[in-house]
This record gives sequence, structure tokens and C-alpha cells, in this order.
Amino acid sequence: MSLVATAVSKDYPTRSGPLSVLRGVNLELSRGEALAVMGPSGSGKSTFLHMLGTLDRPTTGEITLEGADPFALTERDLAAFRNRRIGFVFQDHHLLPQCSVLENVLVPTLVNRDTKPAETEAYARTLLERVGLGGRLDHRPAELSGGERQRVAVARALVLKPVLLLADEPTGNLDRTNAAAVGELLLELHRQENNILVVVTHSLELAKLFPRVAEVNDGALV
Ligand SMILES: Nc1ncnc2c1ncn2[C@@H]1O[C@H](COP(=O)(O)OP(=O)(O)OP(=O)(O)O)[C@@H](O)[C@H]1O
Ligand SMILES: [Mg+2]
Repeated sequence: MSLVATAVSKDYPTRSGPLSVLRGVNLELSRGEALAVMGPSGSGKSTFLHMLGTLDRPTTGEITLEGADPFALTERDLAAFRNRRIGFVFQDHHLLPQCSVLENVLVPTLVNRDTKPAETEAYARTLLERVGLGGRLDHRPAELSGGERQRVAVARALVLKPVLLLADEPTGNLDRTNAAAVGELLLELHRQENNILVVVTHSLELAKLFPRVAEVNDGALV
């Protein structure tokens, strides 16, 4: 198993005492597997995704990626691990407005010293072709539609060939047509890259495209 969550719980400290969001969640995913995560607002989907992405620590329990416990690393090594192994797509594209489409896709490679600039740039161009934006490399995000911006965000998440691709409501801001296109694109690239894909979504249409669907409810993942 490449991604394993074992008895993961999360409490947030609040003024009225600890808020228990997740309790004893287990998950196992291998390379090539894709999971859609659904559940009511406030149930803890983003919290769970952030922990899988090492952006937040479980209160108790363990998460391993390819056998390694990322939370045992120093902050500096954890940041490098996250950059190298995990790709993120959020509801908002978080593209840099002053940078071109190609530059935005290359952002994760700037802090990564063991990649070769010529190779990563060639791969970024290939990815942008694959998401249908090969003709828009020099455009700024403001010159793109919402769906196109989100496709740039997908290319950026994949530029370092992460083993784990995480997306939190990636189609939440898109109309139906664009949502379907971005959803299908995520799954298509996931299959081509043979990574692990976890997508949080409120869209039943998107979830239906996934071989596995889980629901976060009352602190559990079912
Ligand atoms: N930093 C925090 N401090 C305290 N409580 C938090 C924090 N982050 C999230 N929460 C609480 O944890 C619960 C789960 O939040 P989370 O964002 O994971 O929900 P979600 O399932 O992603 O919801 P949505 O579908 O609305 O995005 C919510 O009750 C939220 O208020
Ligand atoms: Mg959320």
C-alpha cells in the first residue's frame, strides 16, 4: 500500500474545549487507485485531505506514504517531501497573476534542486498540451476562463510527477460543462501517471466517475 492512514483522529482546540472532527479513520490506497470523498459541509473532508497532504498533523494515529511517516521529518525535510511527492489542486486555482501559464506550471520546480530545468520545462509543456492549453503558454491567468485556469492548476500539481494527487472541490467554482471536463481530466491524467488520486467533491456527477467513493460522516470515513 502506498498511502495508509491508520486510526487517524483530529481534534481542533476551541474556546469551548477540543472539537473532535475525525475519530479513528482508516484508509489504504495503492498506486493507480482513485477515491472520491463526499460528505456534508463541516464533516471534516478538507481536514482529512490536508492531513493526507501533510499540511496538517493528525492528533492521534499515523499516515504513511510509500512506507515513510512524513510527520517524523523535520519541517524542512517535510516541505521537500511534500513538494516532491504530493500534488494539490484546490477549489481556487491559486495561480500567480503576474506569471504566464507556463511559468505557473513551473512554480513547484523552482524550489526543487534535483530537477533539471530543461527537462521540467519540456514536461510542463507536454502537460499543458495534454490539458488542452498548448497554445496558451504565454497567457496570463486573467486571460483564461475559469475552467482553463483550473486545468493549469492541474498541470502545475503534476509537474513533479507526484505519487499522490489531492484535490479539494476542484470543480466547485465551475459550471457543469467545465466541471465535467476538469473531473475527467484529473482521472485521465491519474491513470496515465499511475498515481494515487483523492478528490473531495460535493458533486455526485464527479464522484460517479470514481471506482471508489467514501463518505465522511460523524467523524468516520465509510
Ligand atoms: N483550524 C481550525 N480550528 C478549529 N476548527 C476547525 C479548524 N479547521 C476546521 N475546523 C472545523 O472542523 C470541522 C471540519 O472542517 P472541514 O473544513 O474539514 O469540513 P469540510 O468537510 O471540508 O466542509 P466543506 O464541505 O464545507 O468544505 C468544521 O466544523 C470546522 O469548523
Ligand atoms: Mg472543505
